[in-house]
Amino acid sequence: MRNVVVAACIALTCVLGVYGQNITLPTTVVTGYTNLTALELSLFSKYDALSRPGAGTGDPTVIQCQLKLNKFEDLDPLAGTFTMDLYLRLQWTDPRLVFNTSLLDGEAFHVDPDLAWKPDIYFYNEAAAMTALDASFKLKAAGLLYWSRHFLMVFAADLDLTKFPYDSQSLDLQLVSYSYDNATIILDWFSTGAVFPDPISDPTNPLKADLWTINSVDNSSTNMNEVVGQTDYSLLTVSIGVTRIPTYYVTRYIIPLFVIALASSAQYWIDSAAVSTRVGAGVTLLLAIVSFMFLLSGDLPKVSYNTRMDNFVLACFFFIFFGLCEFAVVHWISFEGEDTAEPGNKNEQAEHAEFERDGSILVDKKRWIPQLMDTSLRFIQPVGVVVAWAMCFADLSTGGIAGLWVAFVVVSLFILAWIYHDISGYGIVRNEVHEVHVEDGGSPETIVHESHGVH
Ligand SMILES: *[C@@H]1O[C@H](CO)[C@@H](O)[C@H](O)[C@H]1NC(C)=O
Ligand SMILES: *[C@@H]1O[C@H](CO)[C@@H](O)[C@H](O)[C@H]1NC(C)=O
Ligand SMILES: *[C@@H]1O[C@H](CO)[C@@H](O)[C@H](O)[C@H]1NC(C)=O
Ligand SMILES: *[C@@H]1O[C@H](CO)[C@@H](O)[C@H](O)[C@H]1NC(C)=O
Ligand SMILES: *[C@@H]1O[C@H](CO)[C@@H](O)[C@H](O)[C@H]1NC(C)=O
Repeated sequence: MRNVVVAACIALTCVLGVYGQNITLPTTVVTGYTNLTALELSLFSKYDALSRPGAGTGDPTVIQCQLKLNKFEDLDPLAGTFTMDLYLRLQWTDPRLVFNTSLLDGEAFHVDPDLAWKPDIYFYNEAAAMTALDASFKLKAAGLLYWSRHFLMVFAADLDLTKFPYDSQSLDLQLVSYSYDNATIILDWFSTGAVFPDPISDPTNPLKADLWTINSVDNSSTNMNEVVGQTDYSLLTVSIGVTRIPTYYVTRYIIPLFVIALASSAQYWIDSAAVSTRVGAGVTLLLAIVSFMFLLSGDLPKVSYNTRMDNFVLACFFFIFFGLCEFAVVHWISFEGEDTAEPGNKNEQAEHAEFERDGSILVDKKRWIPQLMDTSLRFIQPVGVVVAWAMCFADLSTGGIAGLWVAFVVVSLFILAWIYHDISGYGIVRNEVHEVHVEDGGSPETIVHESHGVH
């Protein structure tokens, strides 16, 4: 037992000793080969693919990275991911692989990637396993290794859909070394650029996507701390700023919803006596909005906040619901008590319940209140729909929204005043009461003569 412990201690000391020792690796310059196969064999004959270049010197290996972005495929808001077709290019120097041959004339030559040491760089925010479509692994005379891989990758995105469908997103591609900390591997961008070609300066904009425009491509180089105070990893980030082209949602959602909300003000033009027509119109529009809600929920993830589109759908929903409620009130005011009243004393009841003395004139509240409500809403509701649309989709400051509210209230008051004036000009039914003595000895009966206009 003791022997085992001693042996283990000795083994550990040896390992630590070798590991901590400052070994300066020999730089072999391989020369004089007549073919590349022989050159490759010779280069890797004493090569240790497990140790990084410069291991033991105390210096970190610098890996230069570059992303060649071919196509930004699509952003899936439901999954919170985006797909990118790209090449990940890595370049580093391995002093063990310096050679000098006249065969290449300064060109790089392809070597078997399994023979050499390779950094374990991966995308930190990848949402699916990294599988290279194609790869190329090249070596240049100065020991410069170049590793390019083609990926069709799905990345996780942190989406903020508050302004949907007028939203902009920042999509990150984060490169980090999996097992080497920043004391052993440092990631840096290629001197020729982090992203190639630069989609902003390149007029052909290789990143074109049908639903998005690319605004900016930013690069950064930082360190990432996995466990606070423990290990830091070198981290490279490319942030792509994209803005949604909202045309699809404007033609398929916003314009139809806008029209439906406007159409709901058509019900105020329908006679309040046509109960089934008005209720039918309101309920049909309500169902149309509900079907839009279903459609939209298939396009958007379940989030804890309302997007602009949600707000607009809710506003349209409210306008139609308001139309139904308004009709209920109008109907109730117009026909209150009529169904329950007995035919015999209907007239008498009507006189007491429906007429109110206003100076010498009796004003028919049953007719002018519903008329004022319907007539004013014919104009106020379309204004309200436009205001709702502007509040949802225009980029308004708090002041702008307050201003819009004030404008809406002022316009509504103006419309109300105008229509009230109009109604009192021709619409309000004034009634004069005459006492008529009935010939055959009955009690005096009150007869109402309806007449229009001011007397
Ligand atoms: C490559 O060179 C080596 C020795 O330099 C030789 O043995 C081998 O036959 C050569 N291979 C070819 C394909 O020429
Ligand atoms: C290792 O050796 C190199 C060159 O001989 C020297 O510059 C470096 O400081 C050494 N590192 C350590 C950790 O001793
Ligand atoms: C490479 O070889 C050529 C001739 O074989 C020689 O002139 C040159 O100096 C060598 N270069 C290096 C870096 O060894
Ligand atoms: C590693 O990252 C940490 C945190 O940013 C930093 O303090 C440290 O200097 C870095 N080490 C090296 C060798 O760059
Ligand atoms: C990183 O971005 C800055 C600002 O956009 C730019 O000036 C710089 O050239 C970029 N660096 C690389 C390596 O692409």
